[in-house]
Amino acid sequence: MLMAQDNTDLKAPDGSGVGALSLAILLLSITFVAAIYLAVKTSALISQVKKKNQLSGEKTLHQIVNSLSEENINTYLKHGQMKKNTENKSGGIGSSLPAWFLVTLLSLAGNAAFAQTAPNGSSLLNDGGIIITLILITTPILVGIILMIIKVRNISKRVKANKENAESERISNYLKSLPEEEVTEALLKRKEVLDYSIAQNALSGNFEPEDKRGILKNINEHANIRFIEEKRKALSRPNVDPELSKLVVWFLICATVWLVFGTTVGEYEGIKFVAPDADHISWLSFGRLRPVHTNAVFWGWSSLAMLGLAYYVVPRVGNNKLWSLKLGWWTLWLINAAVFFGSWSLMAGINNGGGEYREYIWPIMLLFAIGIVLTLINFLKTIATRKTKEIYVSNWYIVAAVMFVITISLVAYLPFWQNGLGETIAQGYYMHQGVGMWFMMLTLGLVYYYLPQQLNRPIYSYGLGILAFWSQIFFYTVIGMHHFVFSPIPWSLQTVAIIGSVGMVIPVVSGTTNFLMTFKGGWHKLASSYSLPFFLIGTIFYFTGSMQGTAEAFRSTNLYWHFTDFTVAHSHLTMYGIVAFFLWGGIYAIIPRITRQEPPQLTVGIHFWMAFIGLMFYTIPLMIGGTLRGIAWINHKPFIDTVSMMAPYWLWRAIGGTLMWTSHLFFAYNMYKMIRPKKIVDINSEAISKITSPDEIVKVH
Ligand code: HEM
Ligand code: HEM
Repeated sequence: MLMAQDNTDLKAPDGSGVGALSLAILLLSITFVAAIYLAVKTSALISQVKKKNQLSGEKTLHQIVNSLSEENINTYLKHGQMKKNTENKSGGIGSSLPAWFLVTLLSLAGNAAFAQTAPNGSSLLNDGGIIITLILITTPILVGIILMIIKVRNISKRVKANKENAESERISNYLKSLPEEEVTEALLKRKEVLDYSIAQNALSGNFEPEDKRGILKNINEHANIRFIEEKRKALSRPNVDPELSKLVVWFLICATVWLVFGTTVGEYEGIKFVAPDADHISWLSFGRLRPVHTNAVFWGWSSLAMLGLAYYVVPRVGNNKLWSLKLGWWTLWLINAAVFFGSWSLMAGINNGGGEYREYIWPIMLLFAIGIVLTLINFLKTIATRKTKEIYVSNWYIVAAVMFVITISLVAYLPFWQNGLGETIAQGYYMHQGVGMWFMMLTLGLVYYYLPQQLNRPIYSYGLGILAFWSQIFFYTVIGMHHFVFSPIPWSLQTVAIIGSVGMVIPVVSGTTNFLMTFKGGWHKLASSYSLPFFLIGTIFYFTGSMQGTAEAFRSTNLYWHFTDFTVAHSHLTMYGIVAFFLWGGIYAIIPRITRQEPPQLTVGIHFWMAFIGLMFYTIPLMIGGTLRGIAWINHKPFIDTVSMMAPYWLWRAIGGTLMWTSHLFFAYNMYKMIRPKKIVDINSEAISKITSPDEIVKVH
């Protein structure tokens, strides 16, 4: 695929390339899942083998007897001696070596064959013969993977069985070596213990049960069967500066307001695709509303939510105080002002006239930029005065993201880069560094803090986190030009961007593996947590959404996906599926800890499911419709025919959008529940204070 990027002689695709591409994505996903599975299984296997070597005959008769069940004891006593263990079946790692060799050969054969497919230009994916070849190459790799999985499973089972057999044989030999009377006596004693049952009131006597130390909590007084597991209550944080908490909460409140505003605009745009004549007011025309939506959700929702969560993390992981609360408040005010005036001016028709996501005029964007510079100073000073030796990985990501957003804002607004083709290059750089080095970078930094915190276990690998960090900087910063494939920008620059897009597999796979492996052993916590399901969905979309981006970058695919709704689906799968879901996870993790008020379990569930299902309804039809439309254009179908062809897909987008938008109302309600001022009258404390008030004491005496 990569080699194919140099071929300029492109034929119109007839759509068969989609099949080949899907195949490649499928293979990649299967390989990824299989790799994780094999890694987990192999490490379990190694630890089993190690344990096997450690187990020796230190067990005493007493220990053995105590570990026997009543049935074992009865059997022994009945027959006088333990049954002889069945013999070990032959075979083990050694006997499976030829199979391993075969599997490796198969994989190598697959790889070698893979290398043969490249040189035929980008029309290659549309060629029936190539598709068949691809399938033929894929088949042995898939079979190899399946075989490898079966083998590893079998070896693992065999090692386990061998170990158990050896252990039971050792016990039986040991028991046989002892005088029979000694064993029988010990077993009879044990049987007596097992047969004994304590009277129900042996410990309490005839007193009513009472919990004098207040140890028992959350007792369900009604014996009902819960449909959904009760969520764990957040542990309140004793030593968070209340002033910092206030700042964090206000960032998140403002972010929520912009989310509801921005997506109300998005929802209305979605409706306009289905009912274009909904209004004829210039302020509400599609062309003006579109940047209002994108900028409000970028700078108002995502940026403020990220910063709010980051203001909590940066001092905490350095074990010190925020350098300046005042600068924090300034940042909040400035960014709010930028989004407020920006939205208003765009609706009034005043805009930068430049590229996408930089439609705010420069004086307005300057407010945003000053706010971010203040944050950078604040974060750097906080980190410089940290009490810990290391700088935790979250702070690497967060500070890098803040530095990058300042860089890209300069690139996007400095006047001498805004001319001719150079402007398009600046636009590509700005656009993808915006999503990759600001939103994604900062959000990842937050996940490295909030995910381990919620799972109550350390991040799986600090090293993988650093690898993902540097490889993200290395590859992401060169991929901007994949937005302008086939443009008059130098072909070589486009090829670099495409290669960089493939290189992105490294940070994405490292990050995904790190997060999923951190979940390992804590999956059961998903059911009882508000925030973990959001983190899980965010992680899945991190992998699938990013890999979808890699697939879009190839010339062969970009030829028909560019300009279609496929890109809009990708934007939402990433900005919404990854960024918004991770941010919600962080918000549900932290606000209850700060305010000690839980969101209602039911409405958090509704928020989660409506957002998730809505996103699927939004994106899947757009991907199908976008692909069909791209193919139709290339086959010279009349433009207007492709517009009417899209109608049902746009309807589904409007339905999905409505679900997403409604979920945001539930989210706003949950926010209210988590931050609302405490009830003025707390009945219990009021009752107690009535009894203990001085007046009352006077009355009593
Ligand atoms: C491996 C990582 C990724 C790659 C290789 C990638 C690739 C691409 C490509 C090729 C396009 C342009 C499609 C076109 O116009 O024809 C695109 C668009 C876009 N991507 Fe990604 N993407 C990646 C990850 C992400 C992430 C993580 C986000 C968000 C957090 C994101 C957000 C967007 C957005 C918003 C657009 C639309 C830009 C526009 O308005 O034209 N992408 N991506
Ligand atoms: C109720 C939820 C939402 C709805 C109904 C919605 C709807 C829309 C619509 C109709 C467009 C215009 C597409 C076009 O020009 O063809 C759009 C664009 C966009 N929206 Fe949303 N949106 C929602 C939520 C969000 C959120 C939360 C984000 C980011 C955090 C977001 C990011 C974007 C981006 C980046 C684009 C530009 C797409 C592109 O050019 O590829 N949207 N949205």
